[in-house]
Amino acid sequence: MADASSKVTTASLRGRKGGEKIAVVTAYDVAFARLADEAGLDVILVGDSVGMVVQGESSTLPVTLDEMVYHTRIVSRGARRAHLVADLPFMSYQASLEDGLRAAGRLVKEGRAEAVKLEGGVRVAELVRRLVDAGIPVMGHVGMTPQSVHQFGGFKLQGRTDEQRARILEDARAVADAGAYAIVIETVPRALAAEVTRAVPAVTIGIGAGRACDGQVLVMHDLLGLEPGWKPRFVRRYAELGQAAGAAFKAYADDVRAGRFPSDEESYD
Ligand code: KIV
Repeated sequence: MADASSKVTTASLRGRKGGEKIAVVTAYDVAFARLADEAGLDVILVGDSVGMVVQGESSTLPVTLDEMVYHTRIVSRGARRAHLVADLPFMSYQASLEDGLRAAGRLVKEGRAEAVKLEGGVRVAELVRRLVDAGIPVMGHVGMTPQSVHQFGGFKLQGRTDEQRARILEDARAVADAGAYAIVIETVPRALAAEVTRAVPAVTIGIGAGRACDGQVLVMHDLLGLEPGWKPRFVRRYAELGQAAGAAFKAYADDVRAGRFPSDEESYD
């Protein structure tokens, strides 16, 4: 059982390969980061999913590096025990190794991230090596990688065909060989995620990838039910905060309109 007071590091996470499962959640601001940290989550990921769940975009592609730095910095103020990872956004690392190094440097230096996550396998392996050489821990991300949504033709299950299966395995091995300490495996058949988990020394973190992975990640808004109309198969809702917030807003508006808020006790003499 992990000690609730000790700081989670890449070393302690690596030590959980095949052992106690790793619990990861996304966060985008200090209030929820603090709640997740105090609840004992192992890793807080500032995902580029911020583009969809916070900014209302239909994909993660419009998110900028400046926005990721901003969200990472505010999350860092609430993440004390948890290990803090930030996503490298689309086109901050695809054009050149130098772009990737500088972008990751900003997430660590200005955002206070303790590791960066990037999508891809073989094609990003050299960047992973260079980042690790520079002292920046890297979390990989294979399978249904949202920054390639247009190449996939939607957020679709990957790894069904022999060719896709072989590519995903090769990608995971490439980033692990390059030094990644962890790899997110997204929306693939659970047998493939199990095979990847056995094949790499890095800890695997699944989302829509079954329970054989070394850990699981969920987007905070999905887990908390903040978007009541959205529930893909791989999401389990642990709360219905969207409904609770809607009801609270309505009760407040009713009280204001009826003159019930504020009361004398809520006013100054
Ligand atoms: O951006 C994100 O939130 C992610 C997770 C879904 C793994 O990449």
